[in-house]
Amino acid sequence: MSRLAGRVAVVTGGAQGIGLGIGRRLAFEGAEVVLADIKFDVAQAAAAELTGTGAKVTAAKVDIGDDISVRALADHVEQRFGHCEILVNNAAISDMTGIEAMTMQRYQDVVRINQDGAVRVSLNFVPLMKKSGAGRRILNIASIMGMRGSPNSIPYSTAKGAVVNFTRALACDLAPHDIMVNAIAPGFVDTPMSIQPDGSHEYDSDWFRDIYVKYGRIPLRRYGNPDDMAGPAFFLCSDDSRYVTGQILLVDGGVSATF
Ligand SMILES: NC(=O)c1ccc[n+]([C@@H]2O[C@H](COP(=O)([O-])OP(=O)(O)OC[C@H]3O[C@@H](n4cnc5c(N)ncnc54)[C@H](O)[C@@H]3O)[C@@H](O)[C@H]2O)c1
Repeated sequence: MSRLAGRVAVVTGGAQGIGLGIGRRLAFEGAEVVLADIKFDVAQAAAAELTGTGAKVTAAKVDIGDDISVRALADHVEQRFGHCEILVNNAAISDMTGIEAMTMQRYQDVVRINQDGAVRVSLNFVPLMKKSGAGRRILNIASIMGMRGSPNSIPYSTAKGAVVNFTRALACDLAPHDIMVNAIAPGFVDTPMSIQPDGSHEYDSDWFRDIYVKYGRIPLRRYGNPDDMAGPAFFLCSDDSRYVTGQILLVDGGVSATF
């Protein structure tokens, strides 16, 4: 496949989970992919595995919560490739804090990564993207939790809600530069983020199986996996989405279609 040949794609949080699934698909379609992650060794191992299959994938270290680190990533991509057509703002941290347990410190820690991180990385990459080749795309990874309320999710849901409207506002600003900006909002996806602090799997719990599977709150009656995200992500990073911008595509097995 070579629909993205000649394009450089940077995927934050690309070491594992949804970011790795998207990075793998973009590389399969011919892009030169940079898996940028705070877990550099994990990103390196993933890049080495994909390179072994013939894909063009490298790893880079970044902390999207830190201005200097993000600037260094943008400089690295500019010096190494000279251009960047695709940016996937995927990195984020999990949080399950409600108003009772929340502190302002916890709230700000989550917002600094999950909300400001997407803004910070975009701010640093837009100048390079403006002078890059055709097919320029920014894809933000939001969440259904940024579209709906749910218990014990204030920092995470608030940050993802901001990512949703950041997507729309950035799309308006970058449309004159022919840079499309969209988001996917995943539902429940099996990744390392689904593992609870006690080691259990969130989606193996009785409440999840009962509410979302038995009673059909996920109409497709299964949780998703990173490959389920990769196809929609590829569409929004490809030439096929050339007249689509400022949109949020819910990739949730139908959760948001129910009440
Ligand atoms: N898994 C789900 O059910 C689900 C649902 C909706 C949305 N999402 C979103 O999808 C995206 C990917 O999540 P995932 O499930 O693959 O999670 P994950 O924890 O498996 O992967 C997240 C990656 O981001 C990296 N990361 C975290 N903080 C970082 C930082 N400061 N700088 C750079 N990298 C950092 C991690 O090292 C990790 O590799 C996130 O934006 C998440 O909010 C996930």
